[in-house]
Amino acid sequence: MYFKNLPIGVIDSGIGGLNVLYKLKCNFKNESFIYFGDNDNAPYGNKPIGVLKDRINEVLNFFSKQEIKGLVIACNTVSTTLLDYIKSKVNYFVVPTYPPMPIDKNTYLACTNNTSKSELATSLYKDKIVPFKNLAEVIENNVFNLDNVDFSLYFNKIPKQATSLALGCTHYSYIENLFTKNLNVKVYDGYDKVISEVCSNLKNLKAKQKSQTVTFVGSCKNYNKKVFNEVILKPKVVT
Ligand code: DGL
Repeated sequence: MYFKNLPIGVIDSGIGGLNVLYKLKCNFKNESFIYFGDNDNAPYGNKPIGVLKDRINEVLNFFSKQEIKGLVIACNTVSTTLLDYIKSKVNYFVVPTYPPMPIDKNTYLACTNNTSKSELATSLYKDKIVPFKNLAEVIENNVFNLDNVDFSLYFNKIPKQATSLALGCTHYSYIENLFTKNLNVKVYDGYDKVISEVCSNLKNLKAKQKSQTVTFVGSCKNYNKKVFNEVILKPKVVT
């Protein structure tokens, strides 16, 4: 069968999608993953949709040479703006990362400018959307030093009446604990939905990988691997 024993592609503008990759790695121990971060062209959050389309065409072109059985878009910006376009271009399964549903009437959505204007965000969150123009970029550029960055400007943008905060950008997961600590609200993401969608797609494919590999590709492969190993995996090792 065509799809058997192929890895699953995971993409983002940069390091944000590594948070989704971690969940995938933990939940699908018999599957292999190929991570493509477009760090050279990050951030995506403020770019015109036409430019994002060009970037995505490049990424899909890469994956047409490197066979995969499915693609996880580990980027809310691309998922909320170009999911249908991507689905129309490929013959493997495509799973988006979407902002999660609001959990109460004072749930606010933190996301990029592009996501804030998307149909999905505006229909779910209406006037309770907080777009951050350059937060993903600040995180992307300071990922090894986040404890020393002053994020108060960003935290102050969240209205006082907020009782919960939905993370609508995969980069924001790196500072989830800082959001929780500074705002005293419940902070959550949409990654469980990604896992369940990947799970149902895999059930439809007969063959499974036997063991897991995680490969990093693209011009920033070494950097993304380093962030994954040193920031995402390392703190989770309890001694
Ligand atoms: N991590 C991406 C997202 O989830 C993109 C952030 C950016 O590049 O602006 O939206």
